Amino acid sequence: MKILGIESSCDETSVAVVEDGVKVLSNVVVSQIDEHRLYGGVVPEIASRRHCESIVKVTDLALEEAGITLDDIDGIAVTYAPGLIGALLVGVNFAKGLSMAKNIPLIPVHHIRGHIAGNYISNGVKPPFMCMIMSGGHSHIVEVKSYTEFNIIGRTRDDAVGEAYDKAGRALGFCYPAGVEIDKASKLGNPDTYKLPKPKVEGSEYDFSFSGLKTAVLNLINNSKQKGEEVNVNDVCASFQKTVSEIIADRLIKATKQYRYKKIVLAGGVSANSGIREKMEKECKKNNFELFMPPLKYCGDNAAMIASQGYFEMQNKKFAGMNLNATASLPITDEKFDII
Ligand code: KG4
Ligand code: ZN
Repeated sequence: MKILGIESSCDETSVAVVEDGVKVLSNVVVSQIDEHRLYGGVVPEIASRRHCESIVKVTDLALEEAGITLDDIDGIAVTYAPGLIGALLVGVNFAKGLSMAKNIPLIPVHHIRGHIAGNYISNGVKPPFMCMIMSGGHSHIVEVKSYTEFNIIGRTRDDAVGEAYDKAGRALGFCYPAGVEIDKASKLGNPDTYKLPKPKVEGSEYDFSFSGLKTAVLNLINNSKQKGEEVNVNDVCASFQKTVSEIIADRLIKATKQYRYKKIVLAGGVSANSGIREKMEKECKKNNFELFMPPLKYCGDNAAMIASQGYFEMQNKKFAGMNLNATASLPITDEKFDII
């Protein structure tokens, strides 16, 4: 079964071909990040326009690299939620057009389910497992009971972890997206120079609050300025990264023990973070858990992960018709389309 995956939920236009849910035949990703960086973040209107401009070419390239044509495709998987509505609509409408023109089944895919599938195409893990999803918009601890059944154990009450990285990074003078910049700088700093708080969340031991941590960085910078001093940026980054890694590892290990899983999976853009990866490797070894992480190329947004998840949704006959719409916000546990 060959699935064509289409991803356009944010600032990457990507199309891929994946066979049987696990074998990547092609994965073309065109990033718009250099343009959005000029504005300090993703500009939705620009994102939609660039998706429109590149989606046909990216699809042609993905088919060419896979050495096939649309006639060889068994299903078209497209990200329909969550994300920037105008950006999602480009992929959804393009997928609908292809589906109708070539009479190929249309499979809607939840973007965050796709991030989890970034593991299926790279490291051979199979559900069930406990998963930490970390991206620019999400921070969830999720029980992945099967390829298509999820249970949210913990979530952020405010900022997503990637958002906290990007906002703290901006205050420290880094360009958008700042996650990778903080990651690099943290390797040059001392994590013990500044003490940052680990905000507690009332009512749940598995929920997160990253906004307080971000604010602590902003306060540290402002207080130093008022005293006429400059913070040591590398040291702040090292401290921030250590604190985030400890918060995530603490909650995730606790949840995995409580729900009696043996496998832990990381997913999403922030799972590229070297501090979090190292900390989780150490903690999993200590607790005898098996750890699975996608390689860096499958941490960020890409269509191979969407095609992979599409294959598993297809096993449950989750096909949509021409009334499929994009949805800006949708929990991973939900589906919002008419099954045909
Ligand atoms: O999953 P993703 O590519 O897009 C969303 O679905 O949101 O995640 C993007 C996020 C951004 O906030 C970016 O700063 C963060 O992932 N990120 C990182 C690293 N690489 C990307 N954060 C921390 N360390 C990194 N190495
Ligand atoms: Zn993403």
